Amino acid sequence: MPDKQPMPDVSFVSDTHSPPTAETRQDAGSAKADTRQARRGFLRKSAQTITGLAATGLAVRTAAAADPGAAPLPVPESMKKPGALTGSALYGHPSEFEKKVVRHLRPTDKQYFSSSTRSPLQELDGIITPNGLFYERHHNGIPTIDPAQHKLMVHGLVDTPLLFTMEQIRRFPSQSRIYFLECSGNPGYTVYGKTAAEANGLVSCAEWTGVPLKTILEEAGLQPDAKWVIAEGADGAGMTRSIPLEKCLDDAMLVYSQNGERLRPEQGYPLRVLLPGYEGNMSIKWVRRLQVTDKPVHSREETSKYTDLQADGKAREFTYIMEAKSIITAPSGGQKMPGTGFCEITGIAWSGKGKITRVDVSVDDGKTWQQASLQEPVLSKALTRFRLPWNWDGKPAVILSRATDETGYVQPTLEALTAVRGVNGTYHNNAMTAWRIAETGEVTNARL
Ligand code: CO
Repeated sequence: MPDKQPMPDVSFVSDTHSPPTAETRQDAGSAKADTRQARRGFLRKSAQTITGLAATGLAVRTAAAADPGAAPLPVPESMKKPGALTGSALYGHPSEFEKKVVRHLRPTDKQYFSSSTRSPLQELDGIITPNGLFYERHHNGIPTIDPAQHKLMVHGLVDTPLLFTMEQIRRFPSQSRIYFLECSGNPGYTVYGKTAAEANGLVSCAEWTGVPLKTILEEAGLQPDAKWVIAEGADGAGMTRSIPLEKCLDDAMLVYSQNGERLRPEQGYPLRVLLPGYEGNMSIKWVRRLQVTDKPVHSREETSKYTDLQADGKAREFTYIMEAKSIITAPSGGQKMPGTGFCEITGIAWSGKGKITRVDVSVDDGKTWQQASLQEPVLSKALTRFRLPWNWDGKPAVILSRATDETGYVQPTLEALTAVRGVNGTYHNNAMTAWRIAETGEVTNARL
């Protein structure tokens, strides 16, 4: 097999210089037999070339590319009449053919106690989660808050207690940053999930716009014994968490926009805290109060919830950082292989400690590993997209991915993690997710 075959020139497939209108396509069907003959020859030749490349994982021969000149391309209905009116949707929606791309609501969730929806990771490309598909986690429903009425109070160990309107918050110098957000209960310690959404969909990534939290705290003036900031949400849970002051003065933000538009109600409209890399529930939504203190409050959400019960009966408290993790999103549970031959394995990796530096993929249940390529941009505390070209030989396989971050930390197996932590805890399970591919092409969770 030749080492370096040129990629076939795709423009050869189209045999005319004019735009491909319905008329020229029909002409091609009758009057250009010679050209077509030549084209077929080229395609046969290039198909062989492409098949050769497929073996090295660089390209794929598809059925569609085999002989497009056999019949004229029919004129579709969409070309025979004007389309929908411009402005028929002043706020745009996905295509009607994408109705299955929705968040996953776990049927056992209790609406006013522990409810969440998961991002459909298996349907998404790139690293940014659309706002309508960003995962949710609420502790007592989604409040409706009028931004004209909403205020943020900053008080406690400060020189000057302050009360801000939303208009005043937006007058501060702003910044936009891309960060992931992940629930510390993603996915919990019970192996659950037929799909990538069910298994690990409590993670999403967005571009956030707002004010550095540091700016607001410095406006109030911190007193010498200030060590913690207690953030309180204006929801029915009065969601409250204690945040170490160092984090507040580092990369923490007060956010009012997500992916270019104002926050959605379920993401904390009109104002939320964002703590990059920290467990999601600490990024208090609908934030109304920041109290500067010298110690944490040990609130309900950091005693009965969000502590990690160990095998010896002791609990870890104030475990903030979401450690390195990855998941293959395609092929993944619930999907079906399109056939044998070339198949790109792709997925997402992230770390609350910084950048992802490496992702390895195994197609033999962890016996051997291959290094995947990381798609730029590789950003600190953001989702990173990885890809590995693969040729599926049609035999059963178990595929999984393993992330490494810039601290050198390597994502563990579930066995390695439970050996250290036991099985009492609910939070901070960053173990690998394995998918089984059956001979039929069916993909399922290999651990279920
Ligand atoms: Co924790």
